[in-house]
Formats: sequence, structure tokens, C-alpha cells
Amino acid sequence: MSDKYIIQGGTPLKGEVSVSGSKNSALGIIAAAMALDGPCVIENLPKIQDIRVLLTICEELGAKIEWINGNTISFDPAEVKTHTAISENVSKIRGSYYLLGAFLGKFKKVSLLLPGGCDFGSRPIDLHIKGFQALGGGDLREENGIISIEANHLKGAGVFLDMISVGATINIMLAAVKAEGVTVINNAAKEPHIVDVANFLNTMGADVRGAGTDVIKITGKPYLEANRSYTIIPDQIEAGTYMIMAAMTHGDITCTNLIPKHMEPLSAKLIEMGALVEEGDDSIRVALLAEDKLKAVSFKTMPYPGFPTDLQPQATTLLTSALGTGRMIESVWENRFQYIKELQSMGANIVTSGKLAVVQGSELHGTTVFARDLRAGAALVTAGLMAKGQTTVTNVYAIERGYENFVDKLKSVRAQIEVVP
Ligand code: EPZ
Repeated sequence: MSDKYIIQGGTPLKGEVSVSGSKNSALGIIAAAMALDGPCVIENLPKIQDIRVLLTICEELGAKIEWINGNTISFDPAEVKTHTAISENVSKIRGSYYLLGAFLGKFKKVSLLLPGGCDFGSRPIDLHIKGFQALGGGDLREENGIISIEANHLKGAGVFLDMISVGATINIMLAAVKAEGVTVINNAAKEPHIVDVANFLNTMGADVRGAGTDVIKITGKPYLEANRSYTIIPDQIEAGTYMIMAAMTHGDITCTNLIPKHMEPLSAKLIEMGALVEEGDDSIRVALLAEDKLKAVSFKTMPYPGFPTDLQPQATTLLTSALGTGRMIESVWENRFQYIKELQSMGANIVTSGKLAVVQGSELHGTTVFARDLRAGAALVTAGLMAKGQTTVTNVYAIERGYENFVDKLKSVRAQIEVVP
């Protein structure tokens, strides 16, 4: 049984929040570490449920992992001898699918139980498969929810992604670092975590160029010596969630340990809405005076450097506290508005039509709401912090999959939030 959060709304959040390491980088980097030929040290790893599950899967497959201190692990894949990952844990998280690329590169074959993750409509992996096939992984079977891919010879090739996909870009990169010759991924995703996984691989001896642009060129190497340390970048989405909470509660929060450049799509919108946004070298302060009102604006989610879909539920929630009519267009996922009925039960005036949500500013009141997925859950907590009275958020396991020390960090900026088992 998952815990609940009980939130008393109406307290402006004030203080400093230190941003943890990026969840979505960490998932790619841990899978990449499985493909290495030597040990490595990974720093700034967020201690969250999705990462614990992926580390458990790696241990089940033979990796030796030790927590050195707070957020640092040593990771040794020397005893990973199997290409088959089919334990129940594999199906618990989406990120386990990066083992497809990592093992195809390492063993030239892989069998994996199909991955789980948040439910926002169909989540196909056809682009990943097309990429693997271009590299020679043509022998593909799917039986009882287990996908098996085998390559006689893994050889670099040109791959064009007909849709921008974070997962496909990382997975193909993971296979290509050990393929013979040169792989070029065209129309690649450019998210900060793509660059982070590429930087990790390069630190460990790979040759990946152009990550962060839409053309990534990978020259395969038969052996990746590793034996180095790498520090994961700060989590763009965690930082964005606290920035939105600061504006939503008429508070004043400085998020530290972040990369301001990664926050630009959100910072620009918060400024347009009338919040104060002050950038430091590795921090951002967001504030809104008690007497000020946010202005409604329009958002459209897009691949990076567009507005991130993973901040869509939080930003839609923010629009409920703005003056006027705001719009949110979700252009990445087919069905990521399912949480809106929970917001409506708190008094939000939102009408959806397909990928559009039209939000009229209104006063929210506390009630009991269900966190159906990670970011939706964070959005409901955001709503509860502003709502009149008491909000109970259930199924908070979904939130803790992706936010490190969520409740402690919120309490440190004066949020009235308690965990109830
Ligand atoms: C990653 O998912 C993130 N997950 C998601 O974050 C994030 O919402 C998403 O990227 C977009 O930024 C992880 O990094 C573990 P995609 P991913 O492949 O890689 C379609 C969070 O909250 N598509 O970029 O699965 C797909 O249906 C999570 O932290 C295909 O059609 O997303 C979607 O419409 C939730 N075929 C679009 O592309 C494919 O083969 C983008 O998906 C692959 C994707």
C-alpha cells in the first residue's frame, strides 16, 4: 500500500532547494555502464525508486554495485555474462529498455521483458527497433512479452528517426558505441540527458560527436575501458517543478545546483506570466509577490529546446492560478491529460479537446486526489500547496519514483505537507 500526502494549502514556499541528479540521464547512464568493459564511478545519482529498480536489475544480471557515499556508486559490469533480462523488475520501469541497446552492443544479442512506466497512451518502440535493424540487428522475435534481437554482425549505419524520440536516440547510441564503423543518427533528440549520456560514454572511452544537435555521429569501439568517474547533470524537470511551485504559491524559491540554460523554456514562460525569474551561475530564483497575479499564457510541449512535456501537468496546474484564459497543447504524448479530472475535482475550470486544454483561472479547494503518474502526481501536490484547505494525494509511490527527498525538500521551503502511511 502506497503512502499518502496530506497538504494544508496557502503557505507561500520560501527558501532554497538543491536540485538532484537527473533521473532520465541516470537511467541511460546506468544502462550504458552495463555495456562497458571496466568499472566506473557514477556521482550525483538521484536516490529515487526508478533508479533503485534499475540498479536491482543490473545486480540481478551480475553487476557489482556499491554505494560509496550519499549519491555516488561504484559500478562494475565485469561479471555481467547474460544478455537476458526478464525479471519482474524489468517490467516495472520504462528505463529498463535501454538494456536493449546496451546488450545488443555488448553481446550482439538481447532478450528483454517489455518495459512499463507511466501510462499516457501507446508507447511504441518501433523507432528503437528500426535503428537496431539498420545496425544489423535484423533477427527480431517477440514472445510472451519478451523481445529478442540478435545481430550476426553489428555494423554502423545511417539512421533517420522519422519522429524525434529521446529513448530511440539513447538506445541506438548505446548499441552503436560498440558497432563496427560509423553510425549517424539523423533527426536525433537534443534533450540535456542525451548530451549527458553521450558525455558519459565519451568519458568511458567511446567516440560520440554532435549530441545536443540533431545529427549524432558515433564511431564504434570494440572495447570501452572505462575506469573513470562521471557526474550526472541536475534534473531539469525536478528544478522546473519547484520553480512552478514558487510562482503558484506566491513564494520565493532559489533552486540551486541547476543549469540555467536547461531551464530557459520554462523561465521564459514564467517571465511572460509575470513572475520574477533571476538567473545565477548555477541557480535560479523564482518569486511572486502576494498581491501580484499571474497572467494566463499559451504553452505547447515540444522536444528540447521546446517546452518539456514532463512539465506539462505542473504548468497546466499553474495556469489555474492565472488571470484569464490559458492554453496548453500537448504535442508529444497522445494522452497526457488524464490527471485533469483530479484538478477539476479541486475546482479547476479546464476543458480539454484532444491535445488542447483550455484553462480558466479559478480558486482551488482541497479534496482527495489520486497521483496516477509521476508528473501528474507532482502537479497535484502543486495544486494542493495553493488550494484552500486540506488536500490528500494518494498513490504517492508514483511521485517518489522520480523526485528525491520530495517531502523533506518541500518542508525545507515551509510547505505544510505530511506523509501518512
Ligand atoms: C522519455 O520517454 C522520458 N522518459 C519521458 O519522461 C519523456 O516524457 C519523454 O522522453 C519525452 O521527453 C525517460 O527518459 C525514461 P520518446 P521516451 O521516445 O523516451 C513516440 C518522465 O516523466 N515514439 O521521446 O519513452 C512516442 O509515442 C518521463 O520522466 C514513437 O512513435 O519518449 C511519443 O509520442 C515520462 N515510436 C514520442 O515519440 C518510438 O519508437 C516521444 O517519445 C518511440 C517514441
